[in-house]
Amino acid sequence: LKTVTVGLLGCGTVGQDVLTLLQRRRDIFADIGVRVVVAGVLVRDTARARNVPEGTPLTTDPSFLQECGVVIEVMGGTTRPLSLLHPYLKSGRPVITANKALLAECWNDLRDYALAGKLYYEASVMAGTPVIGPMSTVLRASRFESLQAVLNGTCNYILTQMEGGKEYEQALAEAQQLGYAEDPPTLDVGGFDTAHKLAVLARFCADGDFPYSAVQVQGIEGVTLSMVQEAAQAGEKYKLIAELKREGAGWKATVSPQRLPANHPICTVGAGRNVLIFQGDECGELFFAGGGAGGMITASAIVGDLLDLMIGFPGHVPLH
Ligand code: NDP
Ligand code: HSE
Repeated sequence: LKTVTVGLLGCGTVGQDVLTLLQRRRDIFADIGVRVVVAGVLVRDTARARNVPEGTPLTTDPSFLQECGVVIEVMGGTTRPLSLLHPYLKSGRPVITANKALLAECWNDLRDYALAGKLYYEASVMAGTPVIGPMSTVLRASRFESLQAVLNGTCNYILTQMEGGKEYEQALAEAQQLGYAEDPPTLDVGGFDTAHKLAVLARFCADGDFPYSAVQVQGIEGVTLSMVQEAAQAGEKYKLIAELKREGAGWKATVSPQRLPANHPICTVGAGRNVLIFQGDECGELFFAGGGAGGMITASAIVGDLLDLMIGFPGHVPLH
């Protein structure tokens, strides 16, 4: 077997499940002739209790990156991961990341590596529900018209719980406990996480340089319990909706809370699911739906990306 040395940046909700899944899928890697060895796992606090395989090399020292053939970044934030990944990418090695804030906000630093096929980031939008894969490959043959989506599990959870009468603060605390929320959760409830994801998607179907700053963002902080319940009485639901559509010669990208009929396809996919409706001229209307947050479902996309890399598939290449 060929040994592939992996470095993991972050070992929280997602990182712990990546380590578990790498162990669980050892046989699939062996089937393609690969033995994965984790060379180092970067954290802030090595004493913190974690659910990780015995012998996991936790450290606060990132020097192990030098010996890694691939890095998986699941630490969050922008400045710190960029400072760690930039020299690594510059040396020609590949990176797998779930970090949509990094992708959305630091695109000028990352775009060339994505174009070179060195960046893998299926997990960054809708976690383990595959949408970046199709949008970066087969869907390009069709002229893109629009997309409408629910992309944030935390807001989805909060709004669904409020339908049942739960207070906003209680529902947010539960979403944090479930490992869905960002740090800080204002990224979720303020709509910024959804906007990050929309910017990432727009680069596959609208403009390869689509700037995060072009997304108009409104979060769910202004949606009260009485508003949600009044909507329910009228047979409607509140959802935080991301939309991308043509406007003149350009594109309009928005994130905003909207009241939709309860029988709208976005509302009927089941509570807690992310959903994306893609409209293309030739491919018609396509529907993607599934879990969009949580440790193991995100880890499944990350380990899937690692398998793709090992097999020889390029990363997720935006529009040129
Ligand atoms: P967590 O907060 O649970 O974990 C973050 C990890 O990174 C922790 O282990 C933390 O160390 C480590 N870390 C953070 N900052 C530093 C630093 N400066 N130096 C060293 N280590 C650091 O986050 P999640 O696992 O939930 O999310 C990780 C990434 O995945 C984020 O980019 C998020 O947006 C993305 N993502 C998350 C999903 C989810 O459902 N949770 C789904 C899809 C994507 P320590 O443990 O010592 O504090
Ligand atoms: N905080 C994000 C969410 C995690 O709630 O959807 C998944 O990207």
